[in-house]
Amino acid sequence: MAKPKVFVTRLIPEKGLDLIREACEADVWQAELPPTRAELLRHVHGVDGFLCLLTEQIDGEVMDEAGPQLKVISNHAVGFDNIDVGAATARKIPVGNTPEVLTDATADFAFALMMAVARRIPEAERYVHEGKWKTWGPLTLLGGELTGGTLGLIGFGRIGKAMARRALGFEMRVIYYDPGETQPSPELKANRVDFETLLAESDFISLHTPLTPDTRHMIDSEAFSKMKPNAVLVNTARGPVVDPQALYEALKEKRIFGAGLDVTEPEPLPLDSPLLGLDNLLITPHIASAGRATRAQMAWMAARNLIAGVMGERLPNCVNPQVYK
Ligand code: DGY
Repeated sequence: MAKPKVFVTRLIPEKGLDLIREACEADVWQAELPPTRAELLRHVHGVDGFLCLLTEQIDGEVMDEAGPQLKVISNHAVGFDNIDVGAATARKIPVGNTPEVLTDATADFAFALMMAVARRIPEAERYVHEGKWKTWGPLTLLGGELTGGTLGLIGFGRIGKAMARRALGFEMRVIYYDPGETQPSPELKANRVDFETLLAESDFISLHTPLTPDTRHMIDSEAFSKMKPNAVLVNTARGPVVDPQALYEALKEKRIFGAGLDVTEPEPLPLDSPLLGLDNLLITPHIASAGRATRAQMAWMAARNLIAGVMGERLPNCVNPQVYK
């Protein structure tokens, strides 16, 4: 029997690719950069399923170009704002994602950003390399401290809770804002507050919310104006949750202490972005989940979703289970 045809939009860890190649006739995009829109449309044509990354915008046009035989869209990410899930549901196409496996890696990385910004590690490294280190100084490169500080979590899902667990070890007070999270969290000692209280009381604000029309630019100039002057903002969620112009002004005018971004708007950030000229901003290239084991596990989960879909089985992780009703 002929194997199902699939397109994989980039090389992914072998743990996933091996599974796919065994079960499917796979067209795997080999280049470092993603396929262009035209290339994407060409390669999805006639496939039974495709595995995509957050770099691909998957809308109704892509689904229609694939054709009526398309049975699954598997995203190699937990976030799926790059996919028009409504359009997939309307066409009865299940969409898969990779929740849970990247929770710890992402929370670890958000903590690393918090510490690096608060304790000015990138600036300190530049200081050494630029020959400014002449002696030990009691006033040299002073920064904020996590221990005893208040951590404000925007979004209290899996990753938000993993942040709260880590914060216990740093003896931090944890507050969170999440319109969807109604359960109190006594074991995590995290208290639910409203958005304004979170902005006003947090020394560290870490974003763990999906990107939706409601969360786009939720951190805007008004939000920055309510933060403490020593506040550190960390974003490992999605770039557009923060208004980049408002961020630039808040950092430039030192209205907050600093920020650590693993995600930006746009991605990648162009080299002439004014944000890159700021000393109190640390930017990394969307690598919070880039632990070896985590990425292998993500590839495996995305492969399993893809294979289940093309075989006509229920996806192990489906974001639009309504398609099965
Ligand atoms: C995701 O999975 O949504 C991350 O942004 C990339 O790992």
